[in-house]
Amino acid sequence: MKNTILLPYIAPKNVAALAKEKFDAFVSDRELTTEEIVQLANEKKPQGMIIVPKQKFTKDIIAKLPDSLRIIATSSVGFDHLDIAAAKERGIQLTNTPDVLTECTADIAMLLLLNACRRGREYLEIMEAGWRKPFSQSEMLGVKVSGKTLGIYGMGRIGQAVADRARGFGMKIVYCNRRRLSPELEKGATYFAKLEDMLPHCQILSLNAPGNADTRHIINDQTLALLPDDAVLVNVARGSLVQEDALMRALQSGKLFAAGLDVFENEPAYDLRLKEFHNVFLTPHMGSATRETRDAMGFRALENIEQSLKGQRPQDSLWE
Ligand code: DGY
Repeated sequence: MKNTILLPYIAPKNVAALAKEKFDAFVSDRELTTEEIVQLANEKKPQGMIIVPKQKFTKDIIAKLPDSLRIIATSSVGFDHLDIAAAKERGIQLTNTPDVLTECTADIAMLLLLNACRRGREYLEIMEAGWRKPFSQSEMLGVKVSGKTLGIYGMGRIGQAVADRARGFGMKIVYCNRRRLSPELEKGATYFAKLEDMLPHCQILSLNAPGNADTRHIINDQTLALLPDDAVLVNVARGSLVQEDALMRALQSGKLFAAGLDVFENEPAYDLRLKEFHNVFLTPHMGSATRETRDAMGFRALENIEQSLKGQRPQDSLWE
């Protein structure tokens, strides 16, 4: 008999098809709330489920899940929406989907970086308004990317992939990470153990660290003040890393030349004051949003469920 699993979100069709081939899978046609998931899980008594980051599994929600449930696989690399300790206490495995979204997320970081530095949003607005008025050689100028120093906060898989891309644009890399990387992974980048020591060197700063209590509001008035004038900030990590009021103050004062943001303190109801800054290039949390990657994330979540239900430790276990 096949195990029962739930996919309580709108899964890519290839993921839904594979889930149905391998399991007795219930695939929702909309994104369910966690309370709805609890209700469905108590009706269907599944062994596993795949969820997405908007579905927050707090201690209270985890307490209401049926005893049948052995694994929750989030289709995301981030896991700040999961209470790992509470799940472990109930014996429910938790997994994420690292690796498969590294390249696409790093691509979005470059998309934001280039658009922020080269005024992509303003140029698009000008073209959409019909252009018509020529610009002089001194108007509407961006900042050059090649030759700049890019600081990467969080040099895990995605941070390293951003560094690889930035090297192709002739940028110098500095980074801050809990641990220094080996020379093969560092590839000549300069290591800083403390963010405060790295910031004065960052003409462009890319945030690539996970969202958690240690990184919350790591970008604030004090840290922004340490950046060189006219710096550019790029965030594809989590909105919680940036205190948005402080960011807006830095944009308002001209301390920052521009910013590129894919993630926000509140999603999807992001602070609309941000869009009033035309030097901020905004995307709606789309780092991993390619056909190939969203399939790969779902497939990886299914692999984790299969491994767990066979009694193995899943490859992406989040249990300590
Ligand atoms: C992730 O995988 O964590 C991305 O941010 C998508 O939510």
